[in-house]
Amino acid sequence: MIHRILVVDDDLLICKQLEDLYRDRNYEVDTCGGADAAMALLEEFEYALAVVDLKMPGTDGISLTKEIRERWLDLDVIIVTGYASIKGAVEAIRHGASDYITKPFEREEILLATEKVLEKRRLLDEISYLRDQLSDRYSFANMVSRNRVMHDIFETIQSLAQNDATVLISGESGTGKELVARAVHFQGRRRGGRFVAINCAAFPDSLLESELFGFERGAFTGAVHDRVGKIEASSGGTLFLDEVESISLPMQLKLLRVLEQREIEKLGGNKVISVNMRIITATNRDLESMVASGEMREDFFYRINVVPIKLPPLRDRVEDIPLLAGEMLRNNTMARENNVTRVSNKALQQLMGYPWPGNIRELGNVIERAVLKTTGTVVRDVDLPNPSGGVGPTAVGPAAKRDLELPLKEYVKRAERDYLAALLKRHQGGISASAGHAMIDAATLHRKMKSHGLKREDFR
Ligand SMILES: Nc1ncnc2c1ncn2[C@@H]1O[C@H](COP(=O)(O)OP(=O)(O)OP(=O)(O)O)[C@@H](O)[C@H]1O
Ligand SMILES: [Mg+2]
Repeated sequence: MIHRILVVDDDLLICKQLEDLYRDRNYEVDTCGGADAAMALLEEFEYALAVVDLKMPGTDGISLTKEIRERWLDLDVIIVTGYASIKGAVEAIRHGASDYITKPFEREEILLATEKVLEKRRLLDEISYLRDQLSDRYSFANMVSRNRVMHDIFETIQSLAQNDATVLISGESGTGKELVARAVHFQGRRRGGRFVAINCAAFPDSLLESELFGFERGAFTGAVHDRVGKIEASSGGTLFLDEVESISLPMQLKLLRVLEQREIEKLGGNKVISVNMRIITATNRDLESMVASGEMREDFFYRINVVPIKLPPLRDRVEDIPLLAGEMLRNNTMARENNVTRVSNKALQQLMGYPWPGNIRELGNVIERAVLKTTGTVVRDVDLPNPSGGVGPTAVGPAAKRDLELPLKEYVKRAERDYLAALLKRHQGGISASAGHAMIDAATLHRKMKSHGLKREDFR
């Protein structure tokens, strides 16, 4: 790897001297005469080291060091100074410079200091590489975690491999419920069969019934062919009923027969079809309280709650944030193409201090946006919603003058989110009313809400 070094000195002679010296040693070098030019170059290129003169007209070396260390946390600075101002050099070290050398300098002296700093940097990169490697030890079926509760969940999933027990996955939005459902299927003995997922909230009752049970030709106007329902389609594999809390009481009763007897009848048909699958349900509500309030049948709840898996929210497993962020960078096409491999410690600290109401999905969105804005190989800044302002619908509003800094795609995405949030607010979270208003179908609305991390309950 060829390192790129930035030399900042108002003395052209020194610039030239250092440039020749570094070029001889096969470093890439840029030189400039002051802080403003330095900033412009730093924005544009990825440097391993900045060599900064202490005394310059305008911004001095100490202020420049401070600014560099604040904005480019991983960039090292060496200060160049005359004997008379060694005190200033020491001050610069207090502000984050790695070393200083005194003018006039010996070639060897400056090369040694340079190599020392770059070696330290190489070791830090190595540590972060090893840390990434380590993450393989913490991964299971596409899920990464070093959290104890999550590891218990991985074990539960493994213990389910040899049976067809019904599983209820609960957890806040974006905690990985669907991922767990897939893991249960693909680790289990039914992995040869299909994994059929249906989002129960995306359909009004009548449609949900025909989606699930299928229909025979002529069952209703418009039923021009027979159609296999999701339940039958999942036979031999796994049926995943997502957002199970939104299933109406009468439909719960119809599903009880599937749960108890593994039998269905198609709409408009009269023969009983035997089916055979694992059933997994997921919810972000507390179903026990729904049973207590009469919104869910008790018998239905007991049938689906055979093996409960409760996913912790991300704020209860902050130790996973660096691991997840690394994983997300590795899986991000743009990050891979642009060699963005790391999140700076400063940005990680920001991420670890945020409460993550949208959990891992929200983290994914934040990382994706940060990658869009990153110019070097390190993600140094992340944009987080202000937690005190609330992250729900109230925080949504015109992004004002920052808009013009966004790529068009991101701008459109934000505008869509704002629009949908306002719409849902107006219709108090009503899916069909909002979908009708927007002239899209409920399933599309649902998919869009999910991709923006908007939750119906926040608008009720
Ligand atoms: N442990 C994990 N490791 C890596 N990625 C994860 C992990 N858990 C979740 N994700 C990612 O987070 C996102 C949300 O996961 P998923 O769709 O499974 O959540 P969910 O709980 O079903 O959300 P919702 O309630 O909104 O439907 C997905 O992109 C998923 O790949
Ligand atoms: Mg889900």
